[in-house]
Amino acid sequence: MNVLAGRTIIVKVPASTANLGPGFDSLGMALSLFAWIEMAEGNGQTVIKMHGSGMDSIPADKNNLIYKVAQLVFREAGVSVPELNITMYSDIPLTRGLGSSASAIVGALVAANALIGSPLTEDKLFQMASKLEGHPDNVGASLFGGIVISAFDGRRADHVRLEPHQALDVLVAVPRFQLSTEKARHALPKQIGMADAVFNVGRSSLLVAALASGQLHLIAAAMKDRLHQPYRAALIPGMAEILDGAAHHGALGAALSGAGPTVLALCETGSPRAGELEKYLIDTFAEAGVTADTMWLKPCVTGPVIAEVTDEQAKVPFMERIKGEVRA
Ligand code: HSE
Repeated sequence: MNVLAGRTIIVKVPASTANLGPGFDSLGMALSLFAWIEMAEGNGQTVIKMHGSGMDSIPADKNNLIYKVAQLVFREAGVSVPELNITMYSDIPLTRGLGSSASAIVGALVAANALIGSPLTEDKLFQMASKLEGHPDNVGASLFGGIVISAFDGRRADHVRLEPHQALDVLVAVPRFQLSTEKARHALPKQIGMADAVFNVGRSSLLVAALASGQLHLIAAAMKDRLHQPYRAALIPGMAEILDGAAHHGALGAALSGAGPTVLALCETGSPRAGELEKYLIDTFAEAGVTADTMWLKPCVTGPVIAEVTDEQAKVPFMERIKGEVRA
């Protein structure tokens, strides 16, 4: 198998929210917030360019996550592409619970696979991504788009994808501080009681059924959680109040997004209370001493969008080419 000489691949990959409250390490939803990764074979050396806020803290050498993930794809496919040109831009805030690392992993897997003629199946990429992340929720959503329900035993991840209801809007309040997933997982107990396990099984099942059947009025009751959110509350001032109060301010339901610190509220499209909800999130965080920025998003129904960059397009600088689509 040959890497096509001069071939350049660009992948646009969605952000994601994990857990949706009760579905810890199992539920994920892709969001209309994106990262772009461009990849081509390097000319005798590896050149990595990262654009976007906070990207200067990310390694731009062969320790770069995208480079390392691409090499896993090449190894799995039995090809050698030691030098790469990688360019990335991301609108996804780093370390805030919106799946930025999952998007980078999925984008790298998909771009590297496309670069060598797509020898690996989508399922293979999902298995690799789940192992790399340690849980399948964010990577599943970024890879398949929509709402993804998955179960992972450390070796194999199985999933079902649901089409998100068309009337769902997603409001995220992103605190201006970072919280590593490692720290947020460290706050969790090693064991939980049967009553809390039963509570979450019921809520998570109800949430999936409510989302699948369009019974949006059940979301508020179904988004409750006793496995992780209560233990993470101390790390995110204001979160517990928002999760308790959001449904009284126009939300269909609210949850911590992934490991946080972002909080997410679902809202019915066109709701006259959208402004009230946004103000409630900002004000409640502010009262707890947290400055948060809000974004209105939609569930993203597609996974990565892959394109080959033509010679003509490649003459235009990367950021110029994508600038019509980026948020900032
Ligand atoms: N399910 C994960 C967690 C998502 O809550 O820790 C964050 O990566």
